Amino acid sequence: MNTNAAIVLFLLVISGLIWAGTQSNDPSWTGNTNRCVGECYDTWKAENGGSIAAIERSKQEALAAASPEALGEKYYGQCIACHGGNGEGGIGPKLQGQAGSDIAAKLTAYRNGEARGAQSAMMWPVAKSMADADIDNIAAYISSL
Ligand code: HEC
Repeated sequence: MNTNAAIVLFLLVISGLIWAGTQSNDPSWTGNTNRCVGECYDTWKAENGGSIAAIERSKQEALAAASPEALGEKYYGQCIACHGGNGEGGIGPKLQGQAGSDIAAKLTAYRNGEARGAQSAMMWPVAKSMADADIDNIAAYISSL
């Protein structure tokens, strides 16, 4: 087969595939556009407790009203693997029973890149991303354990 014939054949096959594709389109398919408006959205609101904006607002309010301890507990999820679910220790030392001020001071030291124990390098990346408020919340939570 010469090259021109191969090209023509190739184009025919591709055109055929495109044609077959257009023939098998489902005309009732409405695409991924969000069509839940009007009555549909009213039903959704009734089922989900308000508009999307209202739900989002109440979530933010709940977060703002949460106690430092509750926020700390949430953050502590990142620490469980090394310090245990109740701060009982594991890869990292036991945190349970330590005063909040001690926890805050130690975390601040790690955040500043200071070495405390031999394995401080494991805590540097953890503490680096902590804001002051995160440290306070964590301290409040750990001292409650
Ligand atoms: C990858 C494991 C790992 C993770 C995750 C981790 N830690 Fe640690 N943590 C350690 C190790 C190891 C030490 C001991 C470091 C040293 O030798 O100074 C330590 C030390 C500490 C200390 C000092 C304890 C003491 O009495 O000297 C505190 C406080 C602490 N971590 C808090 C946290 C908090 C809060 C989190 C979660 C935000 C966290 N750690 C996540 C491994 C981890």
